[in-house]
Amino acid sequence: MLQIGTLFHLVLLTGLSAPHLATAGSLHWSQRPFEERLEHAKRLLRESPLIDGHNDVPMDIRSVVNNRLEDFPFDQNLTEIEPWASRTSCPTDLPRLRAGLLGGQFWSAYVPCSSQYKNAATQTLEQIDVIHRLVKKYPDDLQFVDKADDILAAHANGKIASMIGVEGGHSMDASLGILRTFYDAGVRYMTLTHMCNTPWGDNSEMEDTPEFEGLTPWGENVIKEMNRLGMFVDLAHVSAQTMRDALDASVAPVIFSHSNARTVHDVHRNVPDDVLRRMPENGGVVMVNFVPFYLTDDYSSASISHVVEHINYIRDLIGEDHVGIGSDFNGIPFTPIGLEDVSKFPYLFAELLLDEERWNDESLKKLAGLNLIRAFKKMEEVRDSLSGVTPVEEPIPRDDVIDHLDCVNEWPAPKPE
Ligand SMILES: *[C@@H]1O[C@H](CO)[C@@H](O)[C@H](O)[C@H]1NC(C)=O
Repeated sequence: MLQIGTLFHLVLLTGLSAPHLATAGSLHWSQRPFEERLEHAKRLLRESPLIDGHNDVPMDIRSVVNNRLEDFPFDQNLTEIEPWASRTSCPTDLPRLRAGLLGGQFWSAYVPCSSQYKNAATQTLEQIDVIHRLVKKYPDDLQFVDKADDILAAHANGKIASMIGVEGGHSMDASLGILRTFYDAGVRYMTLTHMCNTPWGDNSEMEDTPEFEGLTPWGENVIKEMNRLGMFVDLAHVSAQTMRDALDASVAPVIFSHSNARTVHDVHRNVPDDVLRRMPENGGVVMVNFVPFYLTDDYSSASISHVVEHINYIRDLIGEDHVGIGSDFNGIPFTPIGLEDVSKFPYLFAELLLDEERWNDESLKKLAGLNLIRAFKKMEEVRDSLSGVTPVEEPIPRDDVIDHLDCVNEWPAPKPE
């Protein structure tokens, strides 16, 4: 059934006078024009922020223009400007973010696994730097945010709340000092692995041939330190056993910044049901991505309806409080039909509006961003409750990094005899 807010909106939209209310109100979304539904979806995203868990624009800025922002006109429609226009996928710029009504973004500080044991930490700090510089360059559109409450404040202020997530534990060089420095630089999630194992945890690519059976004991220290700092543990990309171990170790809500449901599409990158079922108790959020390979077998036909299928599956299994959106735009070579770029976010909500059995205005706002904000606040409460706890000072065990001692700096060289 329609909500009061919907009726009110319909009156605004169509200019219907009060006597027509009952007739108009009895119509289902499916009986009304698409444009009306899209307008309603946009209205929801104006009222309450849409927060995307993962966007790889900073990776493109590095790979295409070597982090030179003067060569990256983010305030222009990049589909009309080379070299961006010729890329197979160029889905993000400020005009289209505005058209898509994005309210908050975790910008990804990602560096490739090939930099592990080399210059991963240096490159990651450069990606954090380029995100800060991007936000400062466009103050009319972007606002840097590192607290849950500031997301709503930025949205109310007409700005896109801009947050930082580090994608992959290899970025911290097995050093809790680097992890703490990331936090001080504004990082509010770290994905425990990308597509390589760290010396303390297994990733999803090697799930069938695990090196550690999940997290090592020192990996649990990483979780402990992230809880103490107030940085989300992100379980996208990790193996199922690493997910379980992290859920055992974490006293704060975790997120999946961009992950789908394994029962809907059976690939290791997606989240199995037993892990999904633990989210209500944990308080975290699974943010569904738009990656064709993780949506369906027939990935060239991946579309908005596959995204809806993953969202609905997770909602039906664990409830509307634990699902969100983490597109992975700019991290994917091509995009699903109907979700070609960031301007299309409202189309996803317009699609979900059709499903009045499952979704109403209130639950769509939770999906859009309120779930993430709730988890963020809870994580901050846990951080505050741990304020008397001292930082973890135990370095990674020497044997865990024996082949890489020259690169893992927390371990001093043994004293010469
Ligand atoms: C960006 O440019 C493309 C191609 O000209 C156009 O279809 C699209 O509507 C533009 N988007 C915005 C938000 O200006």
